[in-house]
Amino acid sequence: MKALVVYSTLTGNTKKIAEGVFSAFDGQAECFDVKDAPAPDGYDLIVPGFWVDRGHADDAMLAFMEKIKNKKIAFFFTLGAYPDSEHAGEVAADTEKRLKENGNEVLGHFRCQGKVDPKLLESMKKLPADHPHAQMTEERKARLDEAAKHPDEKDVANAADFMKKVLAA
Ligand SMILES: Cc1cc2nc3c(=O)[nH]c(=O)nc-3n(C[C@H](O)[C@H](O)[C@H](O)COP(=O)(O)O)c2cc1C
Repeated sequence: MKALVVYSTLTGNTKKIAEGVFSAFDGQAECFDVKDAPAPDGYDLIVPGFWVDRGHADDAMLAFMEKIKNKKIAFFFTLGAYPDSEHAGEVAADTEKRLKENGNEVLGHFRCQGKVDPKLLESMKKLPADHPHAQMTEERKARLDEAAKHPDEKDVANAADFMKKVLAA
């Protein structure tokens, strides 16, 4: 089986998780940044990983995933929201739908929180006061504080375990 791990990252969170996922293959896979990724055609299993951008996979990964047809896929993502939130569930469902539309079989996915770029948080302070992202509520502060601790070593280990389970199934 030829396997390909491809990740998209702005600030490094998703790359860390990709390293956990890749470690599960014991060298029996290839791993690329989406910027350098080969065409998925020559592989049996594709493992794309992305950061969440406004409710879905970032544009670079959306473009790459659109090229994957009739393959086995396990995907992963990092996001600012809690991994067990409705928002994270919607991202997973949206991704799965896109992949299945191209005839792919989705074997599972892994998600975890990732610290949000401080530059983005700074720019949100300039939003009009009635914008939902302009308000720093207690709930939002707690969520961002938690995100700031991720991905941690445990997340990376969990990502490796996830991939090992998919490979063993
Ligand atoms: C422009 C932008 C849009 C984002 N949109 C979302 C979003 O819709 N939902 C969410 O939970 N996190 C969102 N985030 C947070 C990132 O998905 C999260 O911090 C991720 O771990 C970044 O991964 P990276 O370090 O691999 O780039 C956004 C971040 C940026 C910079």
